[in-house]
Amino acid sequence: MSLGLVITFLNYVQRFNQPIQQISVMWTNIQSAVAGGERIFGLLDEEPAIEDMPEAQKMPKIIGKVELQNVFAAYKEEESVLNGISFEAEPGQTIAIVGPTGAGKTTLVNLIPRFYDVTGGTLLIDGFDIRFVTKESLREQIGIVLQDTFLFSTSVMENIRFGRPDASDKEVIEAAKLAHADAFIEQLPDGYQTELGERGSGISQGQRQLISIARAALSDPQILILDEATSSVDTRTERLIQKALENLLKDRTSFVIAHRLSTIRNADLLLVLNEGKIVERGKHEELLDKKGSYYDLYMSQFRRAEQEPIVSDRASQEFAVAQD
Ligand SMILES: Nc1ncnc2c1ncn2[C@@H]1O[C@H](COP(=O)(O)OP(=O)(O)O)[C@@H](O)[C@H]1O
Ligand SMILES: [Mg+2]
Repeated sequence: MSLGLVITFLNYVQRFNQPIQQISVMWTNIQSAVAGGERIFGLLDEEPAIEDMPEAQKMPKIIGKVELQNVFAAYKEEESVLNGISFEAEPGQTIAIVGPTGAGKTTLVNLIPRFYDVTGGTLLIDGFDIRFVTKESLREQIGIVLQDTFLFSTSVMENIRFGRPDASDKEVIEAAKLAHADAFIEQLPDGYQTELGERGSGISQGQRQLISIARAALSDPQILILDEATSSVDTRTERLIQKALENLLKDRTSFVIAHRLSTIRNADLLLVLNEGKIVERGKHEELLDKKGSYYDLYMSQFRRAEQEPIVSDRASQEFAVAQD
């Protein structure tokens, strides 16, 4: 073969090869597009877990009586998480729920705004079985502060305003003051106009919780649910929030789950939950006198608190800042 023929031959091989390679790249792209499409349409077709009944009514303005009658709840049919819960909350009362992790505390409070429906028994608010009212009319009257906060990448001001979109700047700041969030917000680079990152990044978890509490305060709900809402703040901030919560809980029916028992001493009713059952109920002092599981839980925390080194307020403040 002449040199010219070899070069021409190699040239033809390459021309033949190139489109085949291109086709295989295209095929890979098409496949990932199909996979993406499946996810997109899967999400669009997703049915909400809880549907309004066709004859559902609007929930009238809530007064705040909450009644659970032999309530059962389950995520999977065969495994019941709540097993016959009964109690009553009068308007304005604070109900505290304590118990070990996995006892069903979160599940219990999630039933109130109908994130899940009861699988047995009834849950009445002001005498209405909440399965027969529309979700929207129910949820707009219930304030919820969770351990995981939901913040958006917008300003602090707008994040709080999600609690009530028509609130004025002045009302937002009032709510922040009530939640003791005002002090730290003022210290941010742009104050209330500081832009937060994706899912509220840029501030500490404790500060995110304060913003969530401010948001709940702004929405001024008749029923308030706090699920470990102060779990990520230091004890000093928690003491501040404690004061704020006293204002917030006043005149509202509230359900408070707190892992630090000192925060719920003043509750009108304490429920000790274990394995989906109420094992003890009563007021703080009554339960301590009983020397049952609440007493054990309380004492174990008390002892731990005593063992913690005693630091001056100034030092603990600096520590809190360093932690954040
Ligand atoms: N979304 C879910 N799907 C399935 N099981 C769940 C779900 N949420 C909680 N559970 C189960 O229900 C039980 C009670 O959980 P939870 O109410 O979160 O407890 P607590 O708040 O007291 O720690 C646990 O055993 C948990 O594994
Ligand atoms: Mg929980």
